[in-house]
Amino acid sequence: MKLWRDGDIDPQPLQGKKIAVIGYGAQGHAHALNLRDQGHDVVVGLREGSASAAKAQAAGLSTLPVIDAAQSADIVAMLLPDEQMAPAWADGLGQALTPGKTLLFAHGLAMHFGVIAAPPQVDVVMVAPKGPGARLRADFVAGSGLPAIFAVHQDCSGAAPALARAYASAIGCGRIGVIETTFKEECECDLFGEQAVLCGGIPDLMRAGFETLVAAGFSPEMAYFECVFEAKAVVDLIYARGIAGMYTAISNTAEFGAYRSGSRIIDEHVRAAMRQTLADIQSGAFAQAWTGDAARGFTAFSAARALRADSAIETPGRAIRALVEKD
Ligand SMILES: NC(=O)c1ccc[n+]([C@@H]2O[C@H](COP(=O)([O-])OP(=O)(O)OC[C@H]3O[C@@H](n4cnc5c(N)ncnc54)[C@H](OP(=O)(O)O)[C@@H]3O)[C@@H](O)[C@H]2O)c1
Repeated sequence: MKLWRDGDIDPQPLQGKKIAVIGYGAQGHAHALNLRDQGHDVVVGLREGSASAAKAQAAGLSTLPVIDAAQSADIVAMLLPDEQMAPAWADGLGQALTPGKTLLFAHGLAMHFGVIAAPPQVDVVMVAPKGPGARLRADFVAGSGLPAIFAVHQDCSGAAPALARAYASAIGCGRIGVIETTFKEECECDLFGEQAVLCGGIPDLMRAGFETLVAAGFSPEMAYFECVFEAKAVVDLIYARGIAGMYTAISNTAEFGAYRSGSRIIDEHVRAAMRQTLADIQSGAFAQAWTGDAARGFTAFSAARALRADSAIETPGRAIRALVEKD
């Protein structure tokens, strides 16, 4: 695995280039501010009546309507929600990507699954920081950064990889390290990790554990402590020491129980469901379902969100967070 750090990255491909950051949300605000603080010429592209315009301007950034920002720039960073890229494209953003420009993403979904088409004679790259936008900004301000991956979908100029690395360095990621991947690898791995493990699997595992204890007559507060609250301490150990290191830091009883029951829970049925999840992502079925639901007004998404927000696990969660925050 080749890792680039600031010392190995030529900043020249970004010199004198104007960068339009489209969207001022989680990633957009961090990219725009970090780029600006590194001395780059940045404009933020926002939709008409955007609530973010005042925030961006208060931070000292100039703002323009989306199409004007893209027309004015050499590099256009598409930092809108993935499901909003097709509508923005339909509004004429694609036509602003004239030959010689660079189109940049922080996630590969829209390109990899053909949600929008790469304009001809435009370089298309990805720079994906490995963490949320708030961390990207906070770590940058603290003098550090997040690692990032970069990829090239279309290299018309012959300079797309160098430009992607220079951009990754300019948002602070070269302080830690930048690794090359492909749009396919980033997109499919990222969606799988979110769905099977990080945002889908782990919370549903917590919920199932919580519901098992409550159904067996234990108090919701105890069930929440054991199945949700303590997860942070375990994840912090894994983050710092790896999974094997975590086992050595917990009690022998917890470790023996983990070996005895872990594979009973995460059994062949779960692994088969994971393979199905990956197949659903790779076939494009997931991207189609998601962009389709967005186009229909987020009906399925909103219903699922409302159901989860209202579930029994949230009540002890609120009480325990209030207790802990008081201390
Ligand atoms: N969230 C993360 O930390 C994270 C991490 C890694 C990669 N990514 C990737 O980064 C990209 C951006 O994600 P995000 O989470 O940063 O997005 P986000 O926070 O949801 O983006 C919100 C911004 O997009 C603007 N916007 C939304 N719909 C729009 C439309 N139709 N036309 C114009 N502007 C619109 C909003 O405008 P208003 O201000 O007017 O509401 C707001 O400024 C995605 O590709 C995502 O997969 C995100």
